[in-house]
Amino acid sequence: MKSNLPFPEKLDITVTCASGVEKVTKTELERLGYPSAPAVNGSITFSGDKSAVARCNINLRTADRVYIKIAQFPAQTFDELYDGVYQIPWQNYLPKDAKILVNGKSVKSKLFALSACQSIIKKAIIKGLSRYYGISLFPETGSLYQVEFWVFKDEVTLLLNTSGTGLHKRGYRDLVGIAPIKETLASALLLMSDFYYNRPFIDPFCGSGTIVIEGAKIALNIAPNILRDFDFRHWTNFDKKYYTQAYEQAKDNEKLDRQIDFSGYDIDQKAIKLARHHAVLAGLDKKVRFERREVKDLTSESAFGTIVTNPPYGERVYDIKQAKQCYKELGEALKKMQGWSLFAITSAKSFERYLGKRADRERKLYNSNKECRYYYYYGQKEKPNDRR
Ligand SMILES: C[S@@+](CC[C@H](N)C(=O)[O-])C[C@H]1O[C@@H](n2cnc3c(N)ncnc32)[C@H](O)[C@@H]1O
Repeated sequence: MKSNLPFPEKLDITVTCASGVEKVTKTELERLGYPSAPAVNGSITFSGDKSAVARCNINLRTADRVYIKIAQFPAQTFDELYDGVYQIPWQNYLPKDAKILVNGKSVKSKLFALSACQSIIKKAIIKGLSRYYGISLFPETGSLYQVEFWVFKDEVTLLLNTSGTGLHKRGYRDLVGIAPIKETLASALLLMSDFYYNRPFIDPFCGSGTIVIEGAKIALNIAPNILRDFDFRHWTNFDKKYYTQAYEQAKDNEKLDRQIDFSGYDIDQKAIKLARHHAVLAGLDKKVRFERREVKDLTSESAFGTIVTNPPYGERVYDIKQAKQCYKELGEALKKMQGWSLFAITSAKSFERYLGKRADRERKLYNSNKECRYYYYYGQKEKPNDRR
């Protein structure tokens, strides 16, 4: 019986992200040293290696998942799908005890029955592996390997999910608040703003604390996913050293001695309790502050700073009247904070009207599939002598 092969050295790596944040994810990849190809439908593919798998999973703040792209071929029938999958040398990726899970999606294609595609793909993979390893019964007793298929306009792409659960699951948010924003979107909002580690920062509608915590992690150069696990770490054919090296490098890059002034406020005492709990889990309770405060009382002793926020949209817990009141009070508070920039995401069309000011810029983004606008209001420019 043949033994398992080590994972290939050269890999095509595909990183997915939410629609509208591709540019931010591309910049993140470039900063990690991976100049990438253009983003197509919320995914970016580039040539990399095993260390790139580990580094991308640990360090990317705005990516949903990191995949290894295995193959791409046209298929319009189940036979073409089976043949295309069977021809792939799966033994390069999967050991003989791999537990295989197949999932996928299909858009504008003849192959649209997902569960049929799932079972055909799994059958073809197991057939190919059993033939290579010379076994008649494929046991699936080992680590989990999740294979994803994307069928788009009759073109099948097969990928191996190296992350496991989505990368928004950072490992510090164990309880759910009111309409929490995904950590990956929170990071994207921050990276699109003028927020900087030595500028005071406030989220006046902080809820469970996501934006403040993600902001503090960026400010202190703490890798977003340093606390969590990934599927590839459990793969017996993927050398452990790649994770260890990436982890140690990320730890070395931390800037924990930076002084930061980051606060989150919320009207709801329960939300504040939750945000503090998450800050403890993230190891940031000494670095960030959470206080119960209504937006009408928003002030700061600092002349300059940045607000990034996800206020109520007026759709679920807070109705539109309450949401509009929040925008109005935020607008009033901002009049006394001329040096502060505001960046706010909402689906409410009346945001600018109730805030009382036209945004300098806006862009379309999606928050949990809901179409939103991200409004940019730049504060007065800080001059070198303005520093406190
Ligand atoms: C969309 S949620 C924010 C969720 C947050 N981004 C998170 O990840 O958990 C809006 C928050 O605004 C708070 N809120 C509503 N009215 C407020 C007011 N007048 N002043 C301050 N906070 C308010 C709510 O309690 C809620 O936590």
